[in-house]
Amino acid sequence: MARGPSRERFAGIKRALVAAAPKPAVDAYQTLRSLDAAAIRSWLDRRAEGKRAGDFPLPGLVRMTSVAGTANANWFLEGGQLAFRGLIEALGAYGSEGMGRVGEGERPSVLDFGCGCGRVARYWGREYPQIRFLGCDYDRNAVEWCTRNLPFGHFFVNRMDPPLNLDDESISFAYALSVFTHLPEALQRPWLDELVRVVKPGALVYFTTHGDAYLDQLSQEERRTYLSGELVVRRATAGGTNACGAYHPSAYVRHAMCRRVEVVAHLPEGAAGNPRQDVWIARKPSSPAAPSAG
Ligand SMILES: C[S@@+](CC[C@H](N)C(=O)[O-])C[C@H]1O[C@@H](n2cnc3c(N)ncnc32)[C@H](O)[C@@H]1O
Repeated sequence: MARGPSRERFAGIKRALVAAAPKPAVDAYQTLRSLDAAAIRSWLDRRAEGKRAGDFPLPGLVRMTSVAGTANANWFLEGGQLAFRGLIEALGAYGSEGMGRVGEGERPSVLDFGCGCGRVARYWGREYPQIRFLGCDYDRNAVEWCTRNLPFGHFFVNRMDPPLNLDDESISFAYALSVFTHLPEALQRPWLDELVRVVKPGALVYFTTHGDAYLDQLSQEERRTYLSGELVVRRATAGGTNACGAYHPSAYVRHAMCRRVEVVAHLPEGAAGNPRQDVWIARKPSSPAAPSAG
């Protein structure tokens, strides 16, 4: 009797296919995996509820899954709101140069790097429509969706690698939620440096990573690498998609990434809207800091 590939070989082929797949295919695959009757019901209910309340439209199931990891609309909306609250709390606790001056001659500008279909952006539009809100993503379809459906913001496409089409020191607060978690190593520091370039001196850059909470998901060899302070990246060739996973030991974030900023807070598993990711809050120095060696 002819025998098929072994279990490990099959898993290897599946991993290779996912790593080579374009983003829409990865998103569709993840959606099908998480789709069930409850997800469809939640989408129909929340969409109808949003229409009645005059809320911004709800994205489709594939788009929601690509940013939230599940097709469940309840989590898309609640997780987005939790993430937004985390940003507002950080701003309240640490302050960011240029924020909090609405009505005093200056219009704060906020950048959502890797905004996807606006899971978090929509709350800025609802609660702070007076700010200048910018969102960007390398996923053109997501940006087009935001442009059509979230009229308070300006959304634009960026390339996979820096720079952004923004002036130096033009942003009062920048954040990247679950974006560095999907970047290959070659883009980790360049993208953090780019966010630092565009924010004002004294402004915050807020981002999330897969930290120690994910250790149990790593293989023995990956764990050794992680515990030695090195970044672990799975399926780097799928960078930007959810098939690529980056795992950041805190030493790597502090020493390899945060060379031009002061880390003001590291909150292990602090990303309530992206459970169980770590939150990093960094501040651009008020006077230019000399890059550290290394
Ligand atoms: C897991 S989703 C998170 C989306 C959103 N930040 C949120 O929390 O809902 C990751 C997002 O990062 C975007 N992304 C990945 N690499 C990027 C890059 N180099 N530049 C801009 N966006 C990127 C993806 O397209 C995707 O929208």
